[in-house]
Amino acid sequence: MKSASLAIRDNAEPEDVALFSSFITSATFWLLFTTAVGLLLSFKFPYPDWATSPFLSFGRLRAIHTNGTFYGWASIALSGTAIYVAARTSGIGVSNKWLAWLSLACYNLAAICGTITLDLGINYGDQEYREWVWWVKIIFLLGVLLSGLAIVQTVANRVEREIYISNWYTIGGFVFTPILAIVAIIPAYQVGLGQVAVQGFYMHNAVGMWFTFLALGITYYALPKLLNRPIYSYALGVLGFWTNLVFYPVIGAHHFEFSPLPWWFQTLAIVFSVGMLVPVWAGTANFALTMRARGETVRRSYALPFIVVGVAYYFLGSTQGTVEAFRSLQTIWHFTSFTIGHSHATMYGFITFIAWGGIYALLPRATGKQPSLLATGLHFWFATIGVTAYVIALSIGGTIQGLAWAAGNPFIASVDAAAPFWVARAVAGSLMFLAHIIFAYNVYLMTLAPGPESDHWEPPKRGKAATA
Ligand code: HEM
Repeated sequence: MKSASLAIRDNAEPEDVALFSSFITSATFWLLFTTAVGLLLSFKFPYPDWATSPFLSFGRLRAIHTNGTFYGWASIALSGTAIYVAARTSGIGVSNKWLAWLSLACYNLAAICGTITLDLGINYGDQEYREWVWWVKIIFLLGVLLSGLAIVQTVANRVEREIYISNWYTIGGFVFTPILAIVAIIPAYQVGLGQVAVQGFYMHNAVGMWFTFLALGITYYALPKLLNRPIYSYALGVLGFWTNLVFYPVIGAHHFEFSPLPWWFQTLAIVFSVGMLVPVWAGTANFALTMRARGETVRRSYALPFIVVGVAYYFLGSTQGTVEAFRSLQTIWHFTSFTIGHSHATMYGFITFIAWGGIYALLPRATGKQPSLLATGLHFWFATIGVTAYVIALSIGGTIQGLAWAAGNPFIASVDAAAPFWVARAVAGSLMFLAHIIFAYNVYLMTLAPGPESDHWEPPKRGKAATA
């Protein structure tokens, strides 16, 4: 993998470069910490008697892993990149830099307090991805609002007439997520079935309206930039945006099929899950057609291979989600490790790979410092082989588990049958974690390592976007 494009340096304001670098170094810390926790969790399956102190118990560490990867790693990495993209596409610097700095402080404070409280056993209960107590969630929400405001102000001050498609997605994510967070925090309806409905709404939309929107926004910027050609179709991008908004908010109840939630509501969630094929296939087709006949450019780039894997997992993971929603398949897969495979296909294969692609595409252009070629290659292959092995192992193991339950075998028989696949997951996870250490080294090279100074910024001429 070799990139010719890395010689190009953005004419970004030094403080914007510092902002972007700080978001990415913080996010990298959270990636390392929370996936070390994930790795420990994966070894607890084959060795359940290992590390049994309450502070290292599965229940506490699992929530630390999921909340930390969501709100520490992915949210900080995607918000930092989205802020930088908003400035580049608007042809100006970030309009209100202190909002962005304050947002980074809130994100980090929330992740620190969330991790400590969860490890002390202080939590909101077993509501997945919202186990943080209310005041920690409010600090995180503040972070989202401040980053969102910084982006909206920057886009409002743009020199271009059009709002670039990336910013449609990004602003969509920043508008919808506070609604989600407020619904999740307010105690109204959070009893009995109301709580189940709110949980379905929250957990699936955190993935769909936050991570997916930000990741798509970054792809719509990085892909044309790296290939040096326009996106295949602006119209397909807009179709994807609006159909995402129509279908996503209702599909969360597919996590609660066969529950006491009204049957019609579950059916609606299944129908809308099928509707999700429209934005997913429109987005995938748009990205694939933008990359058509550019295999050599992809092969020679640091960033593009990550985006190719990210787009492939967007297609596979999301299409799998539609198929998984059918009642006939949920009878087998519900509650099994198959779902964990699906979560990592989407949150890791799609979201994390797109975040890496965006970082490798934009951070060297911002700082003028390049990652190591060898380290990037190792990062790419370890992470790609690792996540693919992870997903395959749990898909097979989860199916065997579900079939054993459906056959009415004793529960321990399903544990014995799934055990080899959990060992395979721990091995795959070790490879993924190794990839994260290598990525952290590259982030160091692209940010803190000695290199060209970033003070040769020239104010851009008005009327000419910095993205040109
Ligand atoms: C070294 C890499 C990683 C390893 C070894 C790992 C391992 C694990 C383990 C063991 C679990 C608990 C599974 C269970 O309860 O059966 C888990 C859950 C989860 N992880 Fe990871 N993980 C890694 C990276 C990530 C990343 C980067 C993300 C997100 C950006 C992520 C998101 C999740 C989610 C959402 C769940 C909950 C899944 C569900 O309940 O459906 N993981 N992970």
